[in-house]
Amino acid sequence: MSLVNPLSFVQKAREKRVAIAAFNVHNMETIQAVVEGAAEERSPVIVQTTPGTLEHAGIEYLAACVRVASDLWDIPVALHLDHCSSFETIVKCIRHGYTSVMIDGSKLPYEQNVEIVKKVVEVAHSVGVAVEAELGTVGGTEDDVIVDERETAYTVPEEAKRFVEATRVDTLAVAIGTAHGVYKGEPKMDFERLSAIRAEVDVPLVLHGASGVPDESIKEAIRRGISKVNIATELKIPMAETIKNILQSDPSENDPRRYMGEAKEAVKQVVKRKIRLCGCSGLAANL
Ligand code: 13P
Repeated sequence: MSLVNPLSFVQKAREKRVAIAAFNVHNMETIQAVVEGAAEERSPVIVQTTPGTLEHAGIEYLAACVRVASDLWDIPVALHLDHCSSFETIVKCIRHGYTSVMIDGSKLPYEQNVEIVKKVVEVAHSVGVAVEAELGTVGGTEDDVIVDERETAYTVPEEAKRFVEATRVDTLAVAIGTAHGVYKGEPKMDFERLSAIRAEVDVPLVLHGASGVPDESIKEAIRRGISKVNIATELKIPMAETIKNILQSDPSENDPRRYMGEAKEAVKQVVKRKIRLCGCSGLAANL
């Protein structure tokens, strides 16, 4: 299938009280692992890249690879730009076929965040592309952006309502205690806050920083209204561990088809497990 705007399947997931898993990819093997894993689970999937990954691999390669993966498999696949603060990069991604973009103005003062999101919504909606924004600040490390724990700010439910109404954004990333990257202890999630945001806001809600969050907490977040779950670090770890193990046990190994092939399989297993955790296996058949 060709790449699709994810909103219809994210809405469907919301109606069914499950969530769509969205995976950050970095190269051809991770793209293959994500789309093949989703196809084996018969689940729609969101493949996402950060601006740092665009710099690393090149937008042309990434967009082309995801398009090919989507054409090869009979499930809905969306290509999403994750955490982008640049209007110009967003326009470039849309021109290269991205079907969804995140404009991250979460570190800006509220009014400036509203302004930049409105500007992106106007452009994206005119060509059928979905827009995600963030209110509050999720902590941790993503690309070279490091948000210290003391700088995180939880999403305020009433403000979220005003923000969604003012911007007409399609999905909202909420800050409720998760963080990007590896957790030092167990994350403390503010589920009451999530329920309060859900009660105020009528668009699908997005959970960032899902790697390392216990399964029960992910399920509770979905029960309380999360419809998209972002996973990055938990795919990076099996890829790196597999390659390290192979090269450590046989330092003469030099065939990327072997170590990248096994790494891809390890990533795919995590993709499938996360899709089952989010409850979206089989959802592709109902779309
Ligand atoms: P993790 O790296 O913690 O999974 O976060 C992913 C994410 O939120 C991408 O936007």
